[in-house]
Parts: sequence; structure tokens; C-alpha cells
Amino acid sequence: MCKPSEAFLGYRHKTAATQARWTNKDGPCHPSARLEKAKVRNNRRGEHIIRFDSVGLRYGLGPEVLRDISFALPSGSFHFLTGSSGAGKSSLMRLMYLGLRPTRGRVVLFDKDIAMTRRYELPALRRRIGVVFQDFRLLDHLSAMDNVALPLRVRGVKESEVRKHVPELLNWVGLSEQINAKPPTLSGGQKQRVAIARAVIGRPDLLLADEPTGNVDDHIAMRLLHLFEELNRLGTTVVIATHNQFLVDRFTQYPRLHIDRGTVVEGE
Ligand SMILES: Nc1ncnc2c1ncn2[C@@H]1O[C@H](COP(=O)(O)OP(=O)(O)OP(=O)(O)O)[C@@H](O)[C@H]1O
Ligand SMILES: [Mg+2]
Repeated sequence: MCKPSEAFLGYRHKTAATQARWTNKDGPCHPSARLEKAKVRNNRRGEHIIRFDSVGLRYGLGPEVLRDISFALPSGSFHFLTGSSGAGKSSLMRLMYLGLRPTRGRVVLFDKDIAMTRRYELPALRRRIGVVFQDFRLLDHLSAMDNVALPLRVRGVKESEVRKHVPELLNWVGLSEQINAKPPTLSGGQKQRVAIARAVIGRPDLLLADEPTGNVDDHIAMRLLHLFEELNRLGTTVVIATHNQFLVDRFTQYPRLHIDRGTVVEGE
């Protein structure tokens, strides 16, 4: 049955926004969503959104914390990233959102070899990525509303649209009463949900979420996972770094990238 989804996921332009509100289990089902659906299907079949070839990373003169990392994520895929504390999950995420450059090997993101990409081209690539940082990185002087609105405002979305959609998403993640609250007055789990809303509001091509459920109970964790699934159904490639075995056990349909002894083992 086709009905508007509860969550507003993303603002591309007006038509896409309307379509995003009409989904069923097979994805967008708005009468004019066929093209969008075909695009998602093609993406799923198509090229990789990110590829690592023999990548290594060391911090300064320290030991190599990641080594010989090779994997490719198909466009439209959904992966968990697992590994013990200190294994290198956040470091791998930093390489994926171009927060760090590898000390060796090749990273290809959105078909661009990062080593060959000019510095001025990087911000445009980064804007296609939504990141949930393990330490949230919210702006403390801005309200929850303004933190989440930031990616839309940077993109020049009309204020009337921002004021409509941001509260809707905050409501969906259970923060309707905290819309005007500033991060220092929020609990860890509340901050985490603001960070998640900020990462997904722009419907990025790639979502990287680092321990996005580390501070919430299992009920909210499930709800957040459904939000990520819905985003994925609309075409976003999703990677979730997690320690949460409860979630990994409940979403066994999604493959795992597992980091062991500094390197990635797929499908463990
Ligand atoms: N900024 C840094 N400078 C130097 N070493 C670092 C830095 N960040 C991480 N490391 C080291 O890199 C290794 C991997 O750390 P990372 O934070 O990526 O692990 P993680 O898998 O995300 O751990 P956790 O599950 O605890 O978040 C660790 O040995 C850590 O000490
Ligand atoms: Mg980490």
C-alpha cells in the first residue's frame, strides 16, 4: 500500500521533496516517482560509490593503524562497519569523508581519484556526504533546529521549506520538544539524534554514521535504523560503524565490513 512516509528525508528540489514523502516497502511510489525509481535501480546495478585500493594510514610518525585496505561499496548498498574498540572504524570513516588522506594506496570517491583531485574540488564532494560523527560536532551556540537546518541553508533552500521540513524530521527522531534547545542542554542521546537529523536532512549520496546509536536505548536505535533504511531505499549508500550487536543481529540482511588487525575483512 502506498502512503506518505512518516519521515521527511531530504530536500533536493520541490518535486523530489514531495516524492520523498511517498514511499512503500519497494521505495518511492509517488505517481511521478518512476524515473526516480529507475535511477535507484540503475545505481544499485551500477558503479561503486567508493573504492579503496591497498590503502594504509598512519598518524604522524606512529605505527600504521590501517593497512592493505581494499574494498568497494556499490552505489545504493548498506553496510555495517564493525571491529573492536581501537580497531580503526573512525579512522576508516575519516578517510571516506576526506577528513584525512591515506598515507599510501588509492581512494576513489564518486569516480574521482582523491590523490588527483584538486583542493578546491573537495568541498563539492564532501557536500554529497552526510556524516554522523562519533563526537557529534554540533554547533553549541545554535539551536537543534538551526544545527539541522544548516546543510539546507548552505544550499540556499527557501526558509519556508526549511521551517517546514526540519521540525518534521526532528519530530520523527523524537525531539519535537527540543527544537529550540541548544546542544549543551541536551543529553548524549538527544545530541546524537540532532547529529543524525543534520546528516540525513539533505539526502546525501553517501551516509557515514559513526556509532550513531551509541547513546540511545534499543527502541530508539531500531527507529534510527529504520530512518537509515528509508534513506537507503531512496538511493543513499549507507555505512554504519557500530558496536551494537543487538542491531547487527536484527539486520542480518546487511553485509559487514569488519576491521581486524588494521585491515578490512568483508562479509564476516
Ligand atoms: N588523532 C589520532 N592521532 C593518533 N592516533 C590516533 C588518532 N585517532 C586514532 N588513533 C589511533 O588509531 C587507532 C584506531 O582508532 P579509531 O578511533 O579509528 O578506532 P575505532 O575503531 O573507531 O575505536 P572505537 O570503537 O573506540 O571508536 C587507535 O590505535 C588509536 O589510538
Ligand atoms: Mg570510533
